[in-house]
Parts: sequence; structure tokens; C-alpha cells
Amino acid sequence: MGYAHDYASAILYRGRVPMEPVDFVPDWADRPRKAKYYPGAETLPLPEPESGGPRPAPGFTLPLLSGMLQESYGLTGRRLGVQANTDLAALPHYTQANWSRGTASGGGLYPVGVYWAAGAGGPLTPGLYHYAPHQHGLRRLLAGDVTGDVRRALGPGPGEGASQYLVLSVKYWQNSFKYNSFSFHAVSMDVGALVQTWRLWARAYGLRIAPVLWFDEERLAGLLGVAPEEEGVFAVLPLEWEGDAAGPAAGAPPTGAGVRHRDAERSRTVLAFETLERIHGATLGRAGDRPAPGALDAAAAYPPRGGEPVPLPAPPAPPMGETAALRARRSSFGRFDAGRAVTAEQLAAALAQCAATRPGSEAERSDGPPLTSLYVFVNHVEGIEPGSYAYDPAEHALRLVVPGPPGPFLQANYFLSNYNLEQAGAVLVPTVRTSAVLDAVGDRGYRLMGAAVGAVAQTFYTTAAAHGLGAGVALGFDNVSYAERLGLADTDEAPLLIMLLGHERPRPADFRHEIA
Ligand SMILES: Cc1cc2nc3c(=O)[nH]c(=O)nc-3n(C[C@H](O)[C@H](O)[C@H](O)COP(=O)(O)O)c2cc1C
Repeated sequence: MGYAHDYASAILYRGRVPMEPVDFVPDWADRPRKAKYYPGAETLPLPEPESGGPRPAPGFTLPLLSGMLQESYGLTGRRLGVQANTDLAALPHYTQANWSRGTASGGGLYPVGVYWAAGAGGPLTPGLYHYAPHQHGLRRLLAGDVTGDVRRALGPGPGEGASQYLVLSVKYWQNSFKYNSFSFHAVSMDVGALVQTWRLWARAYGLRIAPVLWFDEERLAGLLGVAPEEEGVFAVLPLEWEGDAAGPAAGAPPTGAGVRHRDAERSRTVLAFETLERIHGATLGRAGDRPAPGALDAAAAYPPRGGEPVPLPAPPAPPMGETAALRARRSSFGRFDAGRAVTAEQLAAALAQCAATRPGSEAERSDGPPLTSLYVFVNHVEGIEPGSYAYDPAEHALRLVVPGPPGPFLQANYFLSNYNLEQAGAVLVPTVRTSAVLDAVGDRGYRLMGAAVGAVAQTFYTTAAAHGLGAGVALGFDNVSYAERLGLADTDEAPLLIMLLGHERPRPADFRHEIA
């Protein structure tokens, strides 16, 4: 049994047995940047994204990729609305401004670095580029076709024929300066949330994004020129590029090259955390460990528990498209108001969309079983009795697990003070059979679980926004209490996130400040 089992268990119990370093206090004055900074590299502006809304596209083009990056990790506006987070007083100061992005991120830290290995036949001089979210530009880090190096790291199988790849890495310090040992858990979900934004966005254009999670990670760290123990390479995304379908890519050979530019760290002191180093090492990718098709079947979500099915209404068509919902999405942070109940149709839409969400990696079969189950704590939903339910996706129904209003339980088991969970209409909870996933595909499966839950979180946000509801997801809760409440304590099913859905107070104090 690998170390990831121990890490998963420590994360689950951290509300009762604090993880080291206990009493850690971040040094906010010496915090890292929210994106990498390569002072020596030239930044090329990305073109204006395509206008006129989504339309079917035969493959990615530069304007399409520009749009996808802008709507996911690019800065789209400034967050100035009054909410209940502790950083509120800082927001009007430009140096501490919060910028909105299409993708949610734990702690608003956005630790995922996006690299583009551009091969021959594309719009750019072949090379390796880093996406600079604050400039919405590309920094050229290396000139020359290195797609052969990416293919070699992937090994035979998925992504072999592509000419353009996105590579996603996480420089842990960007998150661990705040979350220390917990960091790995959060960033693996950040990766899932970003990939899911892309999957939703690309789907609107008839394009498919399928992340590859198993590859020779250390080779790619060498290509990116990053310290392999400080940074994890989490996913490679082969892009369907316009024109590629005409014939196989020329297939440049591996070069063995690596980026020589180094990103300039802002923090004067960078701390290492033993637990983080261990879980990073345990989950390090190797192409040879790629799970066999069907390996994950053994970790399939259990059939839903609970009482007789209570049917839900059919989910209505969302009044807003997915790309518009990415713009409208934001966290409610304390603004929920139980004065207006959520409708059963709105809850049905959130449940159905979240249940249909998959990470879409090479480890899953396209018609394979889901890894996640969903539960819902109903506070204020029209026509549904308050209580704790399991969602049955096949029946599109709720099954009662615990009757009665869950508000006091929810609030008692939330660690932060920025939400009154009782004021949300409902709280959805994805679970994963953590041990079963790790047993089925090895320790790297921890990153797959993060990708699965992060994807559900991002779907949740966009679905809520599309249906005119507020939303907020949170990791700051006592997982064990939730497992006990839902009757999962003796199983390997772990509640991994809480997702709050509801109306917000009317006429919020805000200031519109779109920049893109
Ligand atoms: C994996 C993950 C974990 C999160 N955990 C929390 C949390 O514990 N508490 C909270 O208030 N928000 C949490 N959030 C929401 C983020 O704080 C939020 O997405 C970020 O600050 C950006 O704000 P926005 O969602 O309004 O764009 C989480 C988001 C993600 C993706």
C-alpha cells in the first residue's frame, strides 16, 4: 500500500488530528506571486478571441485557444463586491486586488502553470511557451519543436498523433505558502477545475479536450526546466488542431532540450514541507504505470444508498450558455439568503450536471462507471423536505438518508466564518472511494481523484451561474463528520468537497470593473 493511502487518511481526519506543521502561520508579506514570472523571456500578446459566440469548429486555431485561455485562467475583471471573506478590506487597494477568472481555485491562488508545446504546422514558431495570465500573452521559453519530447514522455497511446500540446504543472509553493501539507490535496482539484473549464468551453465549439494523466513526469519537468521536487507536472492535453486531421503530424524526434529560463520567485524564504514532498514523490507519473482499460471499474461509485427514490423534475434547459456562465460565475462568500428557496428544477439541474461530469482522462473508459457519488443536504428547496439525501443518477431521484433540517450540522462542521451554510438552499457533496481508486490504479490515482472532484466543482459553479443561482465550494469542513452523518464511516467512500447552492441577498453592494 502506497503513501497516498496515508495522505488520504490524514487529509480526511485533519479536523480531528491536525496535520503537521500545526499552528503554521503564512508570511503574507513574503507571499509568492499568483503566476510565474520569467523576467528574461519575451511576451507575445495573444490575438483577440473569436467574437460572435460559440460555433462548431473543425479544430483549434490561435484565436480559439486565446479565447479558451482567457475564459479560464485569464483575468476578466476586478472583484470588488462586498462579501464575507477576511480579505475584504484589502480589495480596494490595487496591489492587493483580486481579479476574476473563469475557473475557481482553492484560496484564489491559481497555482496551475499552463505551457504550450507548439509543434510544426501550427500558427507559432515551434517552441515551448508559457501562458502569462496577467498579460494574456505567451512567453517564449524555448525555440524549436519539442513535441517529440512530449510524445516520448507520454509513451505509446493517447496523444501520439497530436502536433500541439498543453502541459499543466503546479509550482507547489504558490499554494503551500498558505496551505502547507494540505496543499497537494487542494492543487490536484485546481487542476481538475481548470481542465473542466476547458472541457466545457471546448464542447461549446464541438471540440474535445481529454487530459492524459500518466506520463514520464520527470522528463517533462526537465523539458519545462523546473525543479522536479518543487513542481508537479499533472496533465498533458493533446489539442485537436485545425488541419491536423488531414494527415498524421510530421512527428519531430525528441531533442532532449530543456528550458533555461527560470521563473523569478518573489518570496525571499521558500519553505519545504515533508508531507508535501512525500505525496508528490509517491504520485510521480510514469507512462509505464498507465492503468489498463477497465482497471478503474473496481473503484466505481457504489449504487446509491438511502430510502425509496423521490423523483426529481427534469432539469430545465439552462437560460445561459456555458461560455457566458463562465463569465457570470463567482463564489457567493457569505451572500446566501434563505428568503428565496431554490426550485426543485434548479437543484435537479445542478445534480444532473455534476453527476454527468467526468475528468475524461485516459484511465477511464468512455462508457465506464463514475468515480464520484453525490449527496445533498436540503435546507430550503421548494417541494423537497429538509433532510440529507443520496442522489440516484439513474433514476434522477433523491433517496433519504437522514430526515430533518441539516442546517445546524452543516454550520457546526464548517471551519471558516465566511458562510452561513444554513442560508444556502442546498449543499451538494461529491464522494469518491479513495482507497479503491488508489488500489486500482496506484498512488498517481490521487491526482485523478483531485481531477474528478475539481471537475465537479467547476461544473457546479457554471451550472449554478447559468440558472441564476449563487454558488460556493469549500474544502474547509470536517470530512469525518460528513462520512458519519451519511452512514459512510465503515466504507471507503470519502466526502471530499462541499458545494453550496442558493439565492443571494438582493441588491448586493458591488462595483463593475470588467477588463476583458
Ligand atoms: C478546490 C477548491 C477549494 C476551495 N475551498 C474553499 C473553501 O474552503 N472556502 C471558501 O470559502 N472557498 C473555497 N473555494 C473557492 C475559492 O476561494 C474561489 O474559487 C476563489 O477565491 C476565486 O473566487 P471566485 O470563485 O469568486 O472566482 C475553493 C475553490 C476550489 C476550486
